[in-house]
Amino acid sequence: MARLYSTLLAGACLCAGALGKVFPRQSGNLPTVTSEGNAFWANGERFYIRGVAYQPGGAADAQDPLLDMSSLRRDIQRFTELGINTIRVYTIDNSKNHDEAMSMLDEAGIYLALDANTPEFSLNRESLDTLHQSYNDVYLQSVFATIDAFAGYNNLLLFFSGNEVINARNNTQAAPYIKAVTRDMKRYISAQADRSIPVGYSSADVAENIESQALYFACGDDQWARSDFFAFNDYSWCSPSSFTQSGWDQKVETYRDYSLPLFLSEFGCIENTRTWEEIESLYSQNMSVAYSGGLAYEYTLEANGYGLVEQSGNGIVPNEDFRRLKAAYAATSNPTGDGGASRQRSNVPACPPRTSEWNVRTENLPEIPAKAENYISNGVSNGPGLNAESSQWRGQPSETEPDLSDGTQESEDVSNGDNSGSSDGSSGGSSGGSDSDSDNDENGAAALGFSTVLLGLAGAAAAFAAM
Ligand SMILES: *[C@@H]1O[C@H](CO)[C@@H](O)[C@H](O)[C@H]1NC(C)=O
Ligand SMILES: *[C@@H]1O[C@H](CO)[C@@H](O)[C@H](O)[C@H]1NC(C)=O
Repeated sequence: MARLYSTLLAGACLCAGALGKVFPRQSGNLPTVTSEGNAFWANGERFYIRGVAYQPGGAADAQDPLLDMSSLRRDIQRFTELGINTIRVYTIDNSKNHDEAMSMLDEAGIYLALDANTPEFSLNRESLDTLHQSYNDVYLQSVFATIDAFAGYNNLLLFFSGNEVINARNNTQAAPYIKAVTRDMKRYISAQADRSIPVGYSSADVAENIESQALYFACGDDQWARSDFFAFNDYSWCSPSSFTQSGWDQKVETYRDYSLPLFLSEFGCIENTRTWEEIESLYSQNMSVAYSGGLAYEYTLEANGYGLVEQSGNGIVPNEDFRRLKAAYAATSNPTGDGGASRQRSNVPACPPRTSEWNVRTENLPEIPAKAENYISNGVSNGPGLNAESSQWRGQPSETEPDLSDGTQESEDVSNGDNSGSSDGSSGGSSGGSDSDSDNDENGAAALGFSTVLLGLAGAAAAFAAM
C-alpha cells in the first residue's frame, strides 16, 4: 500500500544519470514489463494485457484522469472488480506529479499504457508540410517530459508514440514521421531513464494498409526506429460472432510469425449487444501465439455510445455491459507457459513496398530537430501541461527535406549502457482515443492525437473500405 510505496521512494536516491540528469529511481511493487521476441514478459513469465481504456470525459476536452484522486480511487475498485491488470490513458498533464495515482494503481495490481501525445502536442497529418512543421523540438520537448514524468513508475507498462495518425487510405505518408517519433522516444528513454520501457504505435484498423503498417514499424536497419510492439484498434468482432466468423483466425495467420508483441489497443464493437465472446478467443492458444491481449473500449459511457459505467449524480453506476465484460474476464484465464510466443524471436521483416495503398517511397526518416537532439543528451525541463499553446506551428522542424530525400536511416547509439537490449523503448505520442470529437483543430487539420470519428461510431473497417 502507500506504506511500501513511500518506503521505496524514500529509499531511492535521486541519482544523476549517465549524462547528468537527476532522475528518480523506480518506484512501485509491480514487476516491470519488457518486450522481448514477440511478447511481453514480467518476472520471466509471459505478460498479457487485460485492460480497459480510461479517459472519463472523452478526448475532446481531455482532462488528466490521474489527478482526480477521489474518482480514481472509486474507479480502481471497479477495475479490481473487472479483474483487469492495465488501463490505457490517452491524455495526461505532464506538468503535474502523478505519484499518488500511480501508487494507488500499483497497489491494485494495475499497469498504465500511456499515450505520449496530447491534443495540442501532436503531429499534424493533414499534409507533408504540416507533418514536417509539427515534427519539431517544442513537440518533442512535451513528449520527452511525459517520459520523464512516468518512467520512474514500475507500473508504467508502455508508451504509445501515436494513436491512429494514419486513419485513412490517403495519409500513409505520416508513417515516417510516426516512426521518427518512436525512434526519438526510444533514444530518449535509453539515455535518460533507468530501465527499458516498450514504445510503439497504436494504429487504426484500415483494411487496405494495416499490414503495411505492421511491417513498416517493425522493419529497417536502425534498431532505434523499430517499435517494441505493434497495436491496433480492432472493432471487427461484433457479437454474436466467433473466432472464424469474425475473421480473427485469418489475422492470427497473418501475424503468426510477426517479429513484435502485438495487442489490441482498443476493441469492443457496439453494433449489437456486447457479449464479449472475443475475450475467450483473445486469451486462448488460438490467438496467444501472436497476440498479447488487449484493452476493451472504454470505461465511461461517452457520447460515442461506448462505456461500461454511467454517470449518475456524483457517482458512477456499472451497466450491463460492465457485468458481461466482468463475467467474460472471470471465465477466461491466460494460456499457460509461453502461450506459443517466443522470447528469442529476432527476425526483422523487410519494409513493405510502395503501392497504391502505401504511399511511403523511402526508408529514410526525418532527422531529429537539432534542439531535440540536445534534449536526448541533457534531458528536458518540465512539460507544458494541457493549457499551453499548440506545438504544431511553433518550434524548429527537422533539417531534413519534407520529401525525406536527404533523410536518415541510422541513428547514433546514445544508450547509457544500462538497457541496450532488444526491449529498450521509448516513444511517445498519443492521441485522443476513439471518441467522436475529431475536429479539435481550429485550422481544420486533423491533429494526430485525435482519433477518428469512424472508429468511435461502428464498423471501422467497413467505413474505411467505403472511402
Ligand atoms: C484525405 O482525404 C480526406 C477526405 O477526402 C481529406 O479531407 C484529407 O485532406 C486527405 N488527406 C490528405 C493527407 O491528403
Ligand atoms: C480455436 O480455433 C478453433 C479452430 O478454428 C475453433 O474451432 C475454436 O472455436 C477456437 N476457440 C476459441 C476459444 O477461439
